[in-house]
Amino acid sequence: MAEDDLGAYNIEDLRRMAKRKLPRGIFEFVDRGAEDEVALRNNRAAFEGIKLKTHVLANVSTRGLETQIFGKTIKMPFAISPTGTAGLLSYGGEVGLAKAAAKAGIPCTLATNAMTPMEEIVEEAGGELWFQLYMWSDKALSLKFVERVKSVGFETLIVTVDGPVPPNREYNRRNGFEVPLKYSPRLLAQLLAKPGWLATCLLRQFIQRGVPKFENYPPELMDSLMSKNFKRSSLKNDTLTWDDLKALRDRWPGNLVVKGILNGDDAEKAADCGADGVIVSNHGGRYLDSSMATIQILPEIAARVGERMTVIVDSGFRRGSDVIKALALGADLVMAGRPTLYGTAAAGEAGAYRALEIFREEMDRVMALLGLHNVDEIGHDCLWQPPSVAEPNRAAAE
Ligand SMILES: Cc1cc2nc3c(=O)[nH]c(=O)nc-3n(C[C@H](O)[C@H](O)[C@H](O)COP(=O)(O)O)c2cc1C
Repeated sequence: MAEDDLGAYNIEDLRRMAKRKLPRGIFEFVDRGAEDEVALRNNRAAFEGIKLKTHVLANVSTRGLETQIFGKTIKMPFAISPTGTAGLLSYGGEVGLAKAAAKAGIPCTLATNAMTPMEEIVEEAGGELWFQLYMWSDKALSLKFVERVKSVGFETLIVTVDGPVPPNREYNRRNGFEVPLKYSPRLLAQLLAKPGWLATCLLRQFIQRGVPKFENYPPELMDSLMSKNFKRSSLKNDTLTWDDLKALRDRWPGNLVVKGILNGDDAEKAADCGADGVIVSNHGGRYLDSSMATIQILPEIAARVGERMTVIVDSGFRRGSDVIKALALGADLVMAGRPTLYGTAAAGEAGAYRALEIFREEMDRVMALLGLHNVDEIGHDCLWQPPSVAEPNRAAAE
């Protein structure tokens, strides 16, 4: 049972709490999607059409969610996706996220764009930490950076490949929350409207750590987020090819996972380049607004590469039942970004942990209702297909 449920009974409760606490621009940066937010909505809507099948009288008094990922046992088939902003949601948010994951016994991914140095997170949080890499336009610099990630002790590297150019997030232009941050009267008004966040997060950050910045960037890129010299183009790379993935494979001895794969051909190419896993992800609806929901493309990708590599999925997971559906459709692991960010904004580490606990409780309940005892039993048999209207109704015909 929850140590403290914080008055949050589902992820939407944490989302509402985050909305109350955060300045508008920051909340929207976390919460919203690209352009018309079709992909964002579809990520959720696609789950509703998938129905689960129960098996009753199965003595489900003994059940567990433990599973193996990259040879390690984790407490549930769930991990935290990389997000670079937890440090802006509550003071020390990135360390809190990682501690919550360690407490829940699941992996947490640190983002290249984190605002806390990777060494500090590893030292303070412990647990199973993965690292997410954006390959910058200076490829040599990126490969050198990987050496540092290796030396810090990470064993799993996730390379994100779905953002060759910056996304179109019009609301961020309207609300003034853009990188580099420029203080405008509009932005200042938003910050002042949330004095609690201002005092406990931003002012504390300024006093104890100085201007928030991408702390993991090499000195060559380490401009402050507010600097006029901040080179946005240096953060995105529209020249990457599969050869760059091969070069990364040559440099990285640990598990290599490619994030942002949305078709079977690309998944096979990733496997051919020697990747150990793919993350089926549309970046939570934050990049291509016409993207399919990941749960819709997951079965195709799992069928193509599931035997060769680990298949992970994220984007839009908010309920334990969503996780069970993805596992039934061929995923080995589910990840999520916003749920634990909402939790972090709501109550720091305790809020992030509450988000994970909600997922765990919901998964456990759904497994019991389906008559399942362990993760290995989750398969296609858990899914219910409505009879096709095109099929003749045999009973009526006889
Ligand atoms: C605020 C925010 C920041 C993110 N930053 C990164 C990042 O730095 N690198 C990355 O690969 N993905 C990033 N993502 C995408 C997540 O890793 C993940 O794919 C997405 O959040 C999944 O969708 P969900 O939020 O619906 O769970 C970010 C997502 C959010 C919400």
